[in-house]
Amino acid sequence: MSQASTQVDAHTPWADPLSAKDHKRVARYIQQTAGIQLPASKRSLIEGRLRKRQRKLGYASLHEYIEMVLDSGAGAAERLHLLDAITTNKTDFYREPDHFRFLREYILGELAPLRAAGWERPLRIWSAGCSSGEEPYTIAMEMLEIRQDNPGFHFQVHATDISVSCLDTARRAIYPHARVEPVPLAVRRRYLLRSRDKTRDLVRMAPEVCEKVRFATFNLLTDSYDFEPRFDMIFCRNVMIYFNHSDRAQIAQRFAHSLQPGGVLFIGHSETLTGQTTFFQQLIPAVYQKISDRR
Ligand SMILES: C[S@@+](CC[C@H](N)C(=O)[O-])C[C@H]1O[C@@H](n2cnc3c(N)ncnc32)[C@H](O)[C@@H]1O
Repeated sequence: MSQASTQVDAHTPWADPLSAKDHKRVARYIQQTAGIQLPASKRSLIEGRLRKRQRKLGYASLHEYIEMVLDSGAGAAERLHLLDAITTNKTDFYREPDHFRFLREYILGELAPLRAAGWERPLRIWSAGCSSGEEPYTIAMEMLEIRQDNPGFHFQVHATDISVSCLDTARRAIYPHARVEPVPLAVRRRYLLRSRDKTRDLVRMAPEVCEKVRFATFNLLTDSYDFEPRFDMIFCRNVMIYFNHSDRAQIAQRFAHSLQPGGVLFIGHSETLTGQTTFFQQLIPAVYQKISDRR
């Protein structure tokens, strides 16, 4: 059990509902820290997710748990778990596969000038909001496929997320076999290995994939975007959907500043880059190219 101030036992009823006031407090905290919007329609979803933490730590009510997290010095460490519990981490290998078809064709088109320039520098790709790693590993596998026929081609994938537990999973690079179903068979054979633990149906990413991807924590709302050299491509898919309009606009501008001239931004298919015509032009749905270098 925990630091809980109230004694609880197996008969304690856990189901105190999340009050409107506590919902607002949690929503304000999450909006300020991570930019994620939690309107009233999300109240029962939040209640379910926070209930798990409340139970795990042995607090008698949601209200007590929330007070501990938001009001006490002892809550600092738990705030990370609160954020983890609230964020939606859904992801997949080859999610929104059009993007990866486009990526491959686009890079093949870009290779000639890179080759002509003597392959001077690696292509830099940022997966921002990478969740548990499926997106950056998909990018790395696709890039390795290109490298097979173009040995001079080099790339790096920088993968970031606000969620520490997602990044732990990503760095472990081990997934249930069922999760890699969207990976084309030929790619699977080259870059996925049976896990050493033969009792479980797990696969792990091959070392040559892992070494191309660097993971780090990064809060898109509050961290500094001083990347040098800048990126050739940024994937930020299904992340900004949870942000309000002004945070989305600000982050899109920061992405523009973090891209090389002509760099490409991928967003989720259900997202839009409205109001960003100063910086970006659309190439295909959910793919934009930087057109301006105004800082
Ligand atoms: C739904 S997942 C999307 C994963 C992947 N990009 C994809 O499309 O499959 C959204 C991710 O954004 C992360 N996220 C949410 N708010 C964030 C913030 N302020 N800064 C960085 N990452 C954030 C979450 O932790 C989560 O892993």
